[in-house]
Amino acid sequence: MKALEGVKILDFTHVQSGPTCTQLLAWFGADVIKVERPGVGDATRKQLVDVKGADSLYFTMLNHNKRSIEINSKDPAGKEVLTKLIETCDVMVENFAPGALDRMGFSWENIQKINPRIILASVKGFGPGKYEDCKVYENVAQCAGGSASTTGFLDGPPLVTGAQIGDSGTGLHLALGIVTALYHREKSGRGQKVLAPMQDGVLNLCRVKLRDQQRLAAGPLTEYSQYGEGIEFGEATPRAGNDSGGGQPGRILKCKGWQHDPNAYTYFITQAAVWDKVCDVIGEPEWKNKEEYSTPAKRLPHLNAIFARIEDWTMTKTKFEVMDICNPLDIPVGPILSMKEIMEDEGLQATGTIVKVDHPERGAYYTVGCPIKLSDSPVEVTRSPLLGEHTAEILSEVLGYTGDDLTRLADSGAFGNVRKEAAE
Ligand code: COA
Repeated sequence: MKALEGVKILDFTHVQSGPTCTQLLAWFGADVIKVERPGVGDATRKQLVDVKGADSLYFTMLNHNKRSIEINSKDPAGKEVLTKLIETCDVMVENFAPGALDRMGFSWENIQKINPRIILASVKGFGPGKYEDCKVYENVAQCAGGSASTTGFLDGPPLVTGAQIGDSGTGLHLALGIVTALYHREKSGRGQKVLAPMQDGVLNLCRVKLRDQQRLAAGPLTEYSQYGEGIEFGEATPRAGNDSGGGQPGRILKCKGWQHDPNAYTYFITQAAVWDKVCDVIGEPEWKNKEEYSTPAKRLPHLNAIFARIEDWTMTKTKFEVMDICNPLDIPVGPILSMKEIMEDEGLQATGTIVKVDHPERGAYYTVGCPIKLSDSPVEVTRSPLLGEHTAEILSEVLGYTGDDLTRLADSGAFGNVRKEAAE
């Protein structure tokens, strides 16, 4: 039995933040019923299309292990079925623009009246306050949550990061809120509202930058490269390039082949505990007795010179050779892996973190499987549903519609091609 087996999720999500959350719940065994607009579906189905006529990778990679039902939520028959789904499900997840659910007639008050045990989980761009009505996408959240102002190099503009911390990051936060509310319901017997604002989720991941903001009051941030370079600090946490976020200085350094391979780099940390080994490995054993380098604090003003010399050494090795040499010595290093290298990584394929999935419209493709491993609840990644693939099945098997009732719903036009499917 899977960890969340028996839990029914009414998945009213779209784009990325909500779907990543419900995909995780599906991987843990929940029955996730994705509600989509008839004939259109989640907008991502037809975004960044690479195989003509097929669902995009954007959609397929965010919606594994789910069932799809087409419902026009603004049609009376659609509302009737949604109401039944709310009665039946344990959790309703949505990430519509603020107010959209209310406009459909499904306010939290109404949802609770229909099913007091249901949990309503929402992603919004901002929490309550002056921006609560805004529609928000990934990069807006990265900017509003403090990530962009603290990412990039000191002499460049703010930068967004490739990790989708606003969308997928908030989906993760929401999933934790949902299982917590489910656990609480076991004791209280009641559902509750779970809100994960994207700004708050990004800020949570930028916690150390708020730490540094407050440390500024006590003087310059000595572990930042700019300290060693004699550049004054301003009022706010600055961008720190590739400096490490902790007290141990780290940088990204060139490796053999960097001239033609954009990813021939390694991360290298001059951890205090292994300083002597760093000196030996790069061929500077006399540094161990050098007064200016004798303590971590004394080394801080010299980090540029120190890393320049380490880079002279890393440039003579591939990023994997650096790893092979430093790892046994406990010197923390990490090769900069390209997406191609990650996709082809046999280790990640063996653990199910990189998975090959077959799809009837597009053939086989790679995806990221479940990154969280439960010993007693293994994940089998199955393909995303086609639009409305399970409409008839959900109406009849989950909600119990049969005969004339099913015909009435099919005739209403609120459920896509369900009449044809039901006939088949
Ligand atoms: N049947 C009928 N109507 C439907 C429907 C269905 N099955 N599903 C959605 N709709 C309607 C909504 O009710 C809404 O109508 P309304 O504006 O008349 O109330 C309309 O479709 C558009 O929904 P909306 O959420 O506003 O989509 P959008 O494409 O304009 O905005 C976002 C997209 C992501 C910006 C917005 O949903 C948002 O801010 N979400 C919260 C934050 C978030 O999750 N952002 C990250 C996404 S990865």
